Amino acid sequence: MKAQIEQIKNLAKEDILKVNNLQALDEVRVKYLGKKGELTLVLRGMGAIPKEERPIIGELVNKVRDELEELISKKEEELHEIALNEKLENEKIDITLPSTKIKRGSKHPINRIIEELEDLFVSMGYDVVDGPELETDEYCFERLNLPKGHPARDMQDTFYITTEYLLRTQTSSVQARTMMANEEKTPIRVVCPGKTYRRDDDATHSHQFGQIEGLVIDEGISLAHLKGTLEVFVKHMLGENSKLRFRPSYFPFTEPSYEVDVSCFKCGGKGCNLCKQTGWIEILGSGMVHPNVLKMNGYDPEKYSGFAFGTGLDRLAMFKYGITDIRLLYANDVRFLNQFDRKDD
Ligand code: DAH
Repeated sequence: MKAQIEQIKNLAKEDILKVNNLQALDEVRVKYLGKKGELTLVLRGMGAIPKEERPIIGELVNKVRDELEELISKKEEELHEIALNEKLENEKIDITLPSTKIKRGSKHPINRIIEELEDLFVSMGYDVVDGPELETDEYCFERLNLPKGHPARDMQDTFYITTEYLLRTQTSSVQARTMMANEEKTPIRVVCPGKTYRRDDDATHSHQFGQIEGLVIDEGISLAHLKGTLEVFVKHMLGENSKLRFRPSYFPFTEPSYEVDVSCFKCGGKGCNLCKQTGWIEILGSGMVHPNVLKMNGYDPEKYSGFAFGTGLDRLAMFKYGITDIRLLYANDVRFLNQFDRKDD
C-alpha cells in the first residue's frame, strides 16, 4: 500500500513538472486529487487494510496530498507569471515614437507686469481694487477736482458715451470710488490696475491702454512717504541702480504734483536714442492728494492727508522687456507672445 502511494506521488510529480499550461495543470489536479482521483481512491480503499495500519496510511496519504497541493500551487504561480510575461511581450508598445506636443500658452507681458506690481504692493500692505471701465463724468473728473469746463480736461481726449457716461481715461477714477466707499475710514492703501481709453490715434498711442493707480490716505502722510514708495516701486521694476528725479508738474487732483523720471536704463544716464539724449525717461505722475479731492470724497483735509500716483502699464512693459513698438502689445501675434514663455512662473 505504501509503495502504491509512493508510486502515485512520483507519477504525479512528474506530471506536474511536465505541464506547461494552466488547463493541463488543472487536469493533473483532478487526476490525482479530484473526487475520483488516484490518491482519493486509495483513501476509499482503506476498508480493505488492517485496522492498525489505517492511521499510518491515512497520515501518509494526507502528507502526499499536502505535498502535491503545494507543488501544484507553485506551478500555478509559475504558469501565471509566464502567461503575464508573454502578454507583456506581445502587447509591447513603441514609446520612442514622439507624441503630439500640447502647446502651452504664455502670459501676456502686460499681465506679467500687473502680477508683479500686485505682488509688490500687497507685500507692502496694499489692497488691490477694481473699478468700472464704463465710468461716470462725476468719478472720472468732477470728484477729482476737474469740474465741467476745466481746461485740464482737454489733456485727456475722452470717449463720451452720453454726456454723463464715458470710457474712463484714467484709473484715477478709482481714487474717488475708494474714498467714497471707505467713508472716512483709514488707512486707505490701494492699487488699481486696469484698462483705460482715450481718443488717441497716432503710432505711439493706442486708444486702449493700461494704467495702475496707487492711493494712500491716513493721518500724517507726507511727501517722504510718496518718495520712498516710488523708489521701491521703480527700482523693483526697472533695476536697483535706477535713479529717480521728481519734476514739479500739474495734475488737478494732486498738490503739489510731480512727474517722476527714471535714469535711462539703456544708457545708464549718458544719453541715447531711447531717452532722447537726456539721460532720463518720464515714468509716472504723482503728488499729494489735493485738499479739495479729500473734501469732495468725504475726508477732512485738516485731519487726513495722502499721496497718489499713476502710470502706464504699456510703457512699463516696453521698458522692462525692451519692446520698441507699442502696437506689438495689442496685435496678438504669437511670434511675439511666444517670447514670453513661462520661464519664471
Ligand atoms: N491720471 C494721470 C494720467 O492719466 C496720472 C496721474 C498723475 C495719476 C498724478 C495720479 C497722480 O494718481 O497723482 O495722466
